[in-house]
Amino acid sequence: MSRLKNKLKLLLFKISPHLALALGVEFPLKSANRSFLENEIFAFLNAFLKQRPDSARCLFLGTDKRSWHYPKLLTAQFYTMDIEPKKAIYGHRGHHTVGSAAALTQHYEPHSFDVIIANGLIGFGMNQQPDCDALLAGSHALLKKDGLLVLGYNDGVEFVNFKVREVANYKLFEEFVPNHLALTSSQYEFGDHMFVFLKPV
Ligand SMILES: C[S@@+](CC[C@H](N)C(=O)[O-])C[C@H]1O[C@@H](n2cnc3c(N)ncnc32)[C@H](O)[C@@H]1O
Repeated sequence: MSRLKNKLKLLLFKISPHLALALGVEFPLKSANRSFLENEIFAFLNAFLKQRPDSARCLFLGTDKRSWHYPKLLTAQFYTMDIEPKKAIYGHRGHHTVGSAAALTQHYEPHSFDVIIANGLIGFGMNQQPDCDALLAGSHALLKKDGLLVLGYNDGVEFVNFKVREVANYKLFEEFVPNHLALTSSQYEFGDHMFVFLKPV
């Protein structure tokens, strides 16, 4: 039954992604780190965004079927970017850019975002140290001074040959503890996937 439901959802998405969106079709991924992102982290971000002006802006880097419904989950003007043109279908309509997260300043104004979420890029495409440095430099340039970056990454040896915390531009940020409900640490590890909360210095 659930396989049939999934096939119908995919068919509807293929015919009209926008009708599927209007009908509330989602493709959630059931994993511990995904659930943590969508529940604990997004609840914290929404509390943070609530204190910002109505025009608060969030940039979500890397798009996929599983993240297609995220504009509904965060209370902000939601922007998306992915390097792969074929992933644009999962981006936020009218607010999606096809481009590299290693060249953010080519696409967005400085200090124009309250929140940047870069989950699953380092270890899944941005796999060289210069990519990581460029992602951090670009995020720093785009964030408002009191904005924040949620970085979700895999830097085990099977993914990359550097450690995220050791790249030069990591120093552009400091780790912080959200202190929101269950979030009492600046970092959370789920097997080989790490989330860290960063603010610009
Ligand atoms: C594992 S998926 C993560 C997607 C999404 N961020 C999420 O949390 O579900 C990785 C995505 O990052 C994209 N990607 C890889 N390198 C990139 C780059 N340099 N700039 C932008 N997107 C990139 C890939 O095309 C892919 O869609």
